[in-house]
Amino acid sequence: MCLAYLSLQRICFSFFLTCLSHFFVPVSGLHTIVGQYGEAIEVPCNKGNVRPEEVFIAKWKYTNADGSTGDLLVKSQGMNTTLSDNADYHSRISLTRDLSLRISQAKLVDQKIFTCMVVIGADIFEHPVQVTVQKAPSVPTITNQAIEAEIGKLTTLGECSTQNAYPAANITWYKNGVPLTADQTAVKLTAAVHEDRATGLLSTSSKLEYAAVKGDLNAKFTCAIHHKSLTSDLLSGPVTFIINYPTENISLLVTPAGTIKEGDNVTLKCKADGNPPPTGYSFHIKGKKVTVEKSDTYTLMDVTRASSGEYKCSLVGNDTMAASRNIVVTYLDIALVTRGKVQKYVGDRFEAAMLVSASGEAQISWSKNNAKLNGAPRFDKLKYSDSGVYECVATMAGLVKKASFELAVQGPAEISRLTKRRSDDGMLKVLSCEALGSPKPTVQWSINGTNVSATESAFVEGKVIHRITISPTVNLTVNCTVTNSLGQDTQSIAVSTLFDEVTMDKQEQAESSREQTRLVVGVMVGLLLAAVAVGLTYWLYLKKTREGSWKTGEKEDGTLEESKKLEVKQNQKAEV
Ligand SMILES: *[C@@H]1O[C@H](CO)[C@@H](O)[C@H](O)[C@H]1NC(C)=O
Ligand SMILES: *[C@@H]1O[C@H](CO)[C@@H](O)[C@H](O)[C@H]1NC(C)=O
Ligand SMILES: *[C@@H]1O[C@H](CO)[C@@H](O)[C@H](O)[C@H]1NC(C)=O
Ligand SMILES: *[C@@H]1O[C@H](CO)[C@@H](O)[C@H](O)[C@H]1NC(C)=O
Ligand SMILES: *[C@@H]1O[C@H](CO)[C@@H](O)[C@H](O)[C@H]1NC(C)=O
Ligand SMILES: *[C@@H]1O[C@H](CO)[C@@H](O)[C@H](O)[C@H]1NC(C)=O
Ligand SMILES: *[C@@H]1O[C@H](CO)[C@@H](O)[C@H](O)[C@H]1NC(C)=O
Ligand SMILES: *[C@@H]1O[C@H](CO)[C@@H](O)[C@H](O)[C@H]1NC(C)=O
Ligand SMILES: *[C@@H]1O[C@H](CO)[C@@H](O)[C@H](O)[C@H]1NC(C)=O
Repeated sequence: MCLAYLSLQRICFSFFLTCLSHFFVPVSGLHTIVGQYGEAIEVPCNKGNVRPEEVFIAKWKYTNADGSTGDLLVKSQGMNTTLSDNADYHSRISLTRDLSLRISQAKLVDQKIFTCMVVIGADIFEHPVQVTVQKAPSVPTITNQAIEAEIGKLTTLGECSTQNAYPAANITWYKNGVPLTADQTAVKLTAAVHEDRATGLLSTSSKLEYAAVKGDLNAKFTCAIHHKSLTSDLLSGPVTFIINYPTENISLLVTPAGTIKEGDNVTLKCKADGNPPPTGYSFHIKGKKVTVEKSDTYTLMDVTRASSGEYKCSLVGNDTMAASRNIVVTYLDIALVTRGKVQKYVGDRFEAAMLVSASGEAQISWSKNNAKLNGAPRFDKLKYSDSGVYECVATMAGLVKKASFELAVQGPAEISRLTKRRSDDGMLKVLSCEALGSPKPTVQWSINGTNVSATESAFVEGKVIHRITISPTVNLTVNCTVTNSLGQDTQSIAVSTLFDEVTMDKQEQAESSREQTRLVVGVMVGLLLAAVAVGLTYWLYLKKTREGSWKTGEKEDGTLEESKKLEVKQNQKAEV
């Protein structure tokens, strides 16, 4: 029926469109476009799938949520667009080349169904589009912020708000990044939405009431805005609160944490769990109360074993709120009963006595003249060589103590050896007198009662050797006298002239050679080699005789080694 109208008259047009709209009831699953508040919205006709040159008539109209309708514009082929006389839209709408409806400065009232109706040939099509408008909220701010919060008591920590959104923004509170959910006892959230009368935009606020716990000290509270127009949430700046609570627990920290030794500096540090923390503390040091201000530490300088004991710290106004620690100071003392310079007699028994007083097991080591010993010095019979500086080192838990004494073994001077020998060139006699004793013995030589001076060796381990070199022309008796403060010793030795000795040597050599000869001859009798042996022996005899004559001072060659051997032999004989 209506189709017939259309082909007849243009006048009928508006009526026909009105009647037509009753055929098309808005259906769900409508094509929807979302516009941004304040910006232009372009509503396409049939999702842009129309060819304008084929369209005979195009018309845009709208349907409000309450079902009321209105016309916006009409365009016939080859004609200019005709705008309807609509106060809301007259100045804000236009038709694009592809017949889209362009609405500038979108408002919330533009949320409705816009329908594009086109006449193509003999057909009429309607393409409704649902338009919605949204607006992003502002960055949230926290206002009415509390400065302090009390433990366990619901306190308004702040109000988070965001303005002019559509639809309403959703506010979430976070504590240290974890969302808070309302439970009406510890967390209470009160949301409010305020609509702007003029624009219809919505401002949202959320009041957080919170019962703090101790752990919330320094906790960061933020609020976040979630909105469908945003790809990510908007965050407020973090806020913190001073949470005040009284001290319930106090602790005392002692450094060093491990072993405390005598001489250490020990620091006591007191800590109370209240907030704000106390500005000062009372330290109970050996029955004495010391209060520190603007500090939480007290240092015990250079502790001793007497510093061991219980230490306490407490709140300044409340001694019952206290913490205590027991401090044990380790110590190590050694004392040598034998100390300083110790004088003992040679042959005495001696043992170093030491007292160790320590808070634990100490390690003891001994050294003599800086050389390590296997144990404590202990001697059944002291020798001069036992003299020296003995040091004892005790160690325990990082403590080191040392003590030392000097042992001097003394004894009366005595002669241990009185010997004579020829000098290397055979021309002189060397007498040597070896003296033992401590303090160092003095040695005096006397030849027939006449003092002579001598060369002296170093005094080592209670021994000193004196040598004199003489050239006796007659037989002599030589005395060696050794003396120290503890005693004296004298020995004498007979020294014959060099000439006599040489003669005597010669005779002895000759005799021993003859005996050898007799022996060899006896053994070799009847043997073919006898003659050779005799010859060899005779040669030997000759050789030895020659050496003997060399001793008399004749200049003949002989090796140094041979002469030395001979000398030793001769000296031994002389001492017999
Ligand atoms: C269309 O509008 C233009 C200017 O706005 C005008 O010059 C022209 O005459 C109009 N055409 C018709 C057919 O009214
Ligand atoms: C806000 O967020 C909460 C939790 O995500 C959700 O339950 C609630 O429906 C949201 N409210 C709005 C208005 O989006
Ligand atoms: C007090 O502190 C100590 C050490 O930190 C802890 O072991 C103890 O549980 C605390 N007591 C209370 C009541 O908080
Ligand atoms: C203890 O403290 C004093 C003063 O600060 C310092 O001179 C001394 O070296 C310290 N003693 C130890 C063992 O650290
Ligand atoms: C002192 O501390 C105790 C807890 O240790 C508390 O019971 C008492 O009330 C406190 N006294 C004062 C005066 O604060
Ligand atoms: C030393 O004494 C001895 C005898 O005791 C004597 O024969 C000799 O002539 C004396 N020599 C000197 C140098 O006095
Ligand atoms: C040492 O010499 C003196 C004087 O020459 C002599 O009287 C004495 O007997 C000698 N011997 C000893 C062991 O003193
Ligand atoms: C020899 O020396 C000793 C010790 O030095 C001294 O007592 C003595 O009088 C001296 N004798 C002579 C003769 O000089
Ligand atoms: C010297 O002593 C030697 C032996 O010891 C002896 O044979 C000799 O006759 C003595 N000479 C003198 C001059 O007394």
